[in-house]
Amino acid sequence: MRMSQAVCSTVLAILAVAGVNAAEIDEDGGHLKIEDPARVGDPERVAIYQKMRDQMVGGYALSQYPAAKGYTKWRLYNSAPYLSATHGNRYVNNYANARAGDYGSLAAGARLPAGSVLAKDSFTITSEDKVFPGALFVMEKLADGASPDNADWRYVMIMPDGSLFGDSMGDGAEEMVFCHACHKVKANKDYLYFVPKKYRRE
Ligand code: HEC
Repeated sequence: MRMSQAVCSTVLAILAVAGVNAAEIDEDGGHLKIEDPARVGDPERVAIYQKMRDQMVGGYALSQYPAAKGYTKWRLYNSAPYLSATHGNRYVNNYANARAGDYGSLAAGARLPAGSVLAKDSFTITSEDKVFPGALFVMEKLADGASPDNADWRYVMIMPDGSLFGDSMGDGAEEMVFCHACHKVKANKDYLYFVPKKYRRE
């Protein structure tokens, strides 16, 4: 998928804040991602994440956004942090709250209820094996008709220092348009992609 220039600079800004050197970013074909994220194995990634998690949550929580404070108490749906090309080529984890209990088993055409929240935190491992917290990506299901352009999903992105990058229902809403533009592809699964097969936790 080709992203617009605005999206590219957005991603670049995110990576810069995350402490990633722009030299590691491949601008070819409109895609911006870290060229060669260190290829560390699943157990190492689990260990790195366990070490970093409190620090990450501490940063996100400064946003005062409710999900940012409590998401690590929710169910975790992936077995190890996995590389997400669509979220800046960072390692990510997927959590869902109790309302979103059907997240892992959603039938085609089914919808999660209002109040469902999905949170995806992220971190970067650079080619020099440095580790940095990344952004927190949140999707929150609103009441019917609350956000017709986004199929009643609210998209929020919080930076590692707790600052709000964008909220589709508030500040920086224009920066969040690209979220739904991509999630739209999954309209028959309530706009959700779910965890790649290899990383699904039983
Ligand atoms: C170019 C496509 C693309 C864009 C842009 C994108 N996503 Fe995603 N999103 C995905 C894919 C693919 C997955 C599942 C696999 C993964 O994690 O990489 C996903 C998963 C998620 C999930 C877990 C719920 C699910 O769908 O299973 C959340 C939460 C999320 N994205 C939030 C966001 C937010 C917030 C933005 C905008 C700041 C955003 N995404 C932008 C493709 C995208």
